[in-house]
Amino acid sequence: MDFVNDVIAWKRDGHELDAGRLRAFVDGVVDGSVPSYQASALLMAMVLQGLSDGETLELARALVESGKMLDLSVVRRPVLDKHSSGGVGDKVTLVLAPLVAACGAVFGKMSGRGLGHTGGTVDKLESIPGFRVQLPQGEFVRQLERIGVAVVSQSERIVPADRILYALRDVTATIECDGLIAASIMAKKVASGTSALVLDVKVGRGAFMGDLGHARNLGRLCRLIGDAYDRPTTCIFTSMEAPLGRTVGNRLEVEEAWQVLGGEGPDDVREVTLTLAGALLALSDLGVDEPEGRRLAAAALDDGRAAEHFERWCFVQGGRWKPGEFHRLAAHEARAARAGYVTRVDALAVGQAAQIAGAGRRRIDDTVDPAAGVVLQRAVGDQVEAGDPLAAVFSRDPARRAQASAVLDRVFSVGDKRPQPGPLVLGRIEAEE
Ligand code: URA
Repeated sequence: MDFVNDVIAWKRDGHELDAGRLRAFVDGVVDGSVPSYQASALLMAMVLQGLSDGETLELARALVESGKMLDLSVVRRPVLDKHSSGGVGDKVTLVLAPLVAACGAVFGKMSGRGLGHTGGTVDKLESIPGFRVQLPQGEFVRQLERIGVAVVSQSERIVPADRILYALRDVTATIECDGLIAASIMAKKVASGTSALVLDVKVGRGAFMGDLGHARNLGRLCRLIGDAYDRPTTCIFTSMEAPLGRTVGNRLEVEEAWQVLGGEGPDDVREVTLTLAGALLALSDLGVDEPEGRRLAAAALDDGRAAEHFERWCFVQGGRWKPGEFHRLAAHEARAARAGYVTRVDALAVGQAAQIAGAGRRRIDDTVDPAAGVVLQRAVGDQVEAGDPLAAVFSRDPARRAQASAVLDRVFSVGDKRPQPGPLVLGRIEAEE
């Protein structure tokens, strides 16, 4: 019986893991002394037994300490960050990052790639020709000082244990544990030097959290870890029943983000962005409360400063941004089978159609097609006639396009009654100042 075997049995039998055991496990995963079959067994015991608040916090500490910690104190200002738990059509970071900087605060983020049916900001940024998502640390810091905004891909030296554990969890059905998710998200935020965070926890059909109760527990755990590290964390719960905005797919989403940056674009993207911007600016050093932060942000969208900041940010990070300048792929259109009102747009199915079309990955090492994706022509509540176009899927590959089309054809439900619009913002947990 070795030590790791005892730890697995201990957790399997419902006992609490102390800091020493958790640290030994995480260290062993990084140095290779804990093989993947033992790590997977312990992860499964954690999923089945759950993690206490104490275990979650200690796991987060062990993860943070498994790698390098970025010190952003040289920026001498709070570096704000936002994290989304993953959604379909969620292009909010593309708008929020330059918007927060245009309002005079500092936004710095290490971001991930999309996996499964949800998208990732790094893939979206890479759909802009030349955009560099890998910057040396010194350049990241200088850019924050100079223009107040930088978004880069997650550094391999930050929380290396999470990289290994996340890949294992992805293939062993062990993602679904609130404590594991909270520790994984927050360890990366703490280690990447975030001063204060707004967490957008997506709830609904297209999200990892199906119901609000579950999402609230995740938010509570993230706040707990944020408090322990003195990183104020506000959690906002937003609906992911239907996709956010009208586009899903990397370059298509950048184009839509550009509209929102110019004071236009879909109302739901603007609303989530302004809600998060108000909450973030209230955590900044600008001395504004949330309503004032929201007003500042709305003004910056409407008077062109946010769009100007986006252009400057792209330029400084090497991106050659020209709206509308990309290759449009061949499309298949889904049409209404009957007349009525759109009662549902299934976010999960839209995400899957976009992924199949080439916008997302099935495995972490798959490549994405920047131009692939879905454009929604109708939203919940819209009236349609039989044969009206509802959505189009764009793909370079005819076989993928056919497969994605079959999924897209099942996305819309049409009924006789116009549905009442559900709330977009479902609740929140305030940061402790
Ligand atoms: N996102 C993360 O970063 N980690 C998880 O465990 C789940 C979602």
